[in-house]
Amino acid sequence: MSELLDARTEQLVTEFGRRFGDTPTHVSRGPGRVNLIGEHTDYNDGFVLPVALERDVRFVIRPRADRSVRLYSVDFDEGFTFDLDKIAYDGDRLWANYIQGMAASLQREGLDLVGLDAVLSGNIPRASGLSSSAALEIAAAEAFLTAAGKHGVLAGTRLAQLAQRAENEFVGVNCGIMDQFISVLGKKNHALLIDCRSLDYELVPVPPEAALVIGNTRASRSLANSAYNERRWECETGVGLLQEVLPGIRSLRDVTSEQLETHRQRLPERVYRRCQHVVSENARVLQMVEALRNGDLSTAGRLMNASHTSLRDHYEVSSPALDAMVDAMQSVPGCYGARLTGAGFGGCAVALVRPGAEQAVADAIFEQYPKVTNIWPEVYVTTAADGARVTEIK
Ligand code: GLA
Repeated sequence: MSELLDARTEQLVTEFGRRFGDTPTHVSRGPGRVNLIGEHTDYNDGFVLPVALERDVRFVIRPRADRSVRLYSVDFDEGFTFDLDKIAYDGDRLWANYIQGMAASLQREGLDLVGLDAVLSGNIPRASGLSSSAALEIAAAEAFLTAAGKHGVLAGTRLAQLAQRAENEFVGVNCGIMDQFISVLGKKNHALLIDCRSLDYELVPVPPEAALVIGNTRASRSLANSAYNERRWECETGVGLLQEVLPGIRSLRDVTSEQLETHRQRLPERVYRRCQHVVSENARVLQMVEALRNGDLSTAGRLMNASHTSLRDHYEVSSPALDAMVDAMQSVPGCYGARLTGAGFGGCAVALVRPGAEQAVADAIFEQYPKVTNIWPEVYVTTAADGARVTEIK
């Protein structure tokens, strides 16, 4: 498919000419995501409901005849070259590791890749809970597959798994499958209900009476990684203890709230609260899908508010900054509901709002949030966008 280039791609094409003295053949894009509901459920085999963002990471590329991959990142103003036969983690250039990890993961799948030249850049705020890393992995995957003439050979779900593997095993971040999955398979004007056990998915239309506003706390997420791993471990502990009386369960996905209450005494208090969040959050995702399908946005908003409360009080992954952001959003009459999105501890919150109320929500955030936190936030209005795409440059 070829189309007119927008200003961002034009700039990358110009930069490509400057760096490599040639014109690129393709542009590949991987979008970021915002999760509407279903937080910390993906690694518990549960349900999630993200949408892909209009913001993305882009590569303009030109295949090479050898095995060399020459990269230039506009955002880091830094180049990096590696050989497809000698992939090795680079302690100084984290961004390049996502790309190397992706190449390694595709090759391990038996795909013959070829070298390429690439200039890349993104407009997803980094380390903000909007999955700039997954977007980078997916844009890189599409770039490698396209250069090798293999675009479309992998099922979208498999591509998402390979990207998750790159992040888990090469980059060393223990994430679930949600971010990569939505970056590949997102659809304009739709959220994606993903069953993170079977990897079945279903498009859920976002009603036209709903708009999305994202508030970036711009607060540090320094604890996020270790706390994320700790939460995963607490969930596994809960499953292990519950299996003694519920031998049929494999993960928290299989536990009902009645079962959890019946066996509550078997669990340390904190583990119980973690399980309570996951079990109730899975139910909320399914209720949210029904509410969106029925155009019942008050119920959808109430479920998002309940999700935030549960993440704050039971899963304990919110922060004073995120709570202040969500309070500001919820204070506006046109806001149906709001919650933290992504792993938590900082990053972003998302609000479901009546179209026309976006500005009022933004005003409330700029008015209220800095008073509590002393931090100047950012606000993005977004609609649900398409997943990854490759376009030929003519
Ligand atoms: C991060 C991870 C996802 C998911 C969320 C929490 O974004 O990358 O896999 O676990 O946190 O819902």
